[in-house]
Amino acid sequence: MDKFIIKGGTPLKGTIPISGSKNAALPLMAASLLGNSPSVIQNIPKLKDIYTFNNVIRVVGAHVDFKEDENTLVIDPTHINHLEAPYDLVRKMRASFYMLGALVGKHGFAKVSLPGGCAWGPRPVDLHLKGMEAMGIDISLEKGYVIAKAGDKVEGGSFKLEPSSVGATVNLVLASVLKAEKFTIKNAAKEPDVVQLCNFLVEMGANIQGIGTDTLTIKAVDELQGIKVSNDPDRIELGTFMIAGAMFPGSDLTLNGCNPDHLGSFPDKLRKTGTSVDINGTTIRVKASDKLKPVSIKTEIYPGFPTDLQAQWATMMTQADGNSKVTDTVYFDRFSYVPELVRLGADMEVEKNTVKISGKTPLTGASVMSTDLRASVSLVLAALVAENTSEVLRIYHLDRGYESLEDKLTAVGANIKRVEET
Ligand code: UD1
Repeated sequence: MDKFIIKGGTPLKGTIPISGSKNAALPLMAASLLGNSPSVIQNIPKLKDIYTFNNVIRVVGAHVDFKEDENTLVIDPTHINHLEAPYDLVRKMRASFYMLGALVGKHGFAKVSLPGGCAWGPRPVDLHLKGMEAMGIDISLEKGYVIAKAGDKVEGGSFKLEPSSVGATVNLVLASVLKAEKFTIKNAAKEPDVVQLCNFLVEMGANIQGIGTDTLTIKAVDELQGIKVSNDPDRIELGTFMIAGAMFPGSDLTLNGCNPDHLGSFPDKLRKTGTSVDINGTTIRVKASDKLKPVSIKTEIYPGFPTDLQAQWATMMTQADGNSKVTDTVYFDRFSYVPELVRLGADMEVEKNTVKISGKTPLTGASVMSTDLRASVSLVLAALVAENTSEVLRIYHLDRGYESLEDKLTAVGANIKRVEET
């Protein structure tokens, strides 16, 4: 197991390239299994979750060639012969559950392990299953596995997601594009990851109306063909580096290869802190203010403030001059990073689904422990502004979602080293 040793207290200056998006890549990888010929997906980040999903895809018999030096995946679905995703792989990454929609959607049968919980609480998949049932797919549970049967075609119908869910929208789209005569998803997720998936499928030959809105209507087509696409840049990695650039006076970061349209309300919120955010095409320059202002946020579905940036925002607010609140309305219990930040000197208190932060508090280096992906990166952000040296333990969480994090930070002046935990 690796850890980071970080010596904080220096401003970050320079340019960071943004990687391809993990959360957007995974639905494309699942969708490529619906084709009758191989797909080529460029701009794929080299991340643990991508390697895990490659293995899930291989288990069912599809061929995957990850050309790592080109960040390109070639997925050939023409040899799928085993319609099952085992617990061993699904428990490593919840998005493996996309195999349910992909396999039943193409082959009329799937056996996929139920994913386990998450470090920050239960994350149900009831909507994925109820939506498939509403479509006419037969769903049963057997010893921790979901068994889905659809035969040749199902009638479809309509299903309302309450609450709106990215994962359920993805799974229902995957299940329906080849199978459902006509299926409508109401209150569908509008996240860029879902939009990219739908556009990818339409280019493969699918019939999906309402892309980018909260109502998607799908009519089955007879076949889909593999295509070549370039995956979207990672908006969460981008937001994380924008916060890194805003947290410490004197920092000045230029972020390249971005899609600023995918940031929703985030840049405006960041400007309210006094940070300079200059967007120019696919480049964003962030210059820290000398005195960060406190700004409260509430997470919402897209285009609202993303839950995947709330831990980083709360960490930044420890350095703002005054009181602020961070409320998560998507996940009520996503604050496992708070006790660790308190150990570094932050003044924070969790009350229900809100963390109250009093700033500005100096942070002092200590050993802190990562508990999940976004919590981990918030500890790295805190360590970068803390006096003295910090250790961030269990960074395998980070390797799931941030490509070459220490290299990118070192290139802009951070003092961060990966060493083996002893
Ligand atoms: C995806 C992202 C994750 C992000 C989240 C919210 C991936 C791989 N992961 O996760 O990084 O934090 O969106 O933006 O893309 N819910 C139900 N029943 C269900 C499904 C979801 O009640 O069957 C609830 C969840 O508990 C949560 C809300 O719906 O409160 C949204 O979750 P969802 O959008 O499904 O998150 P994921 O797709 O798992």
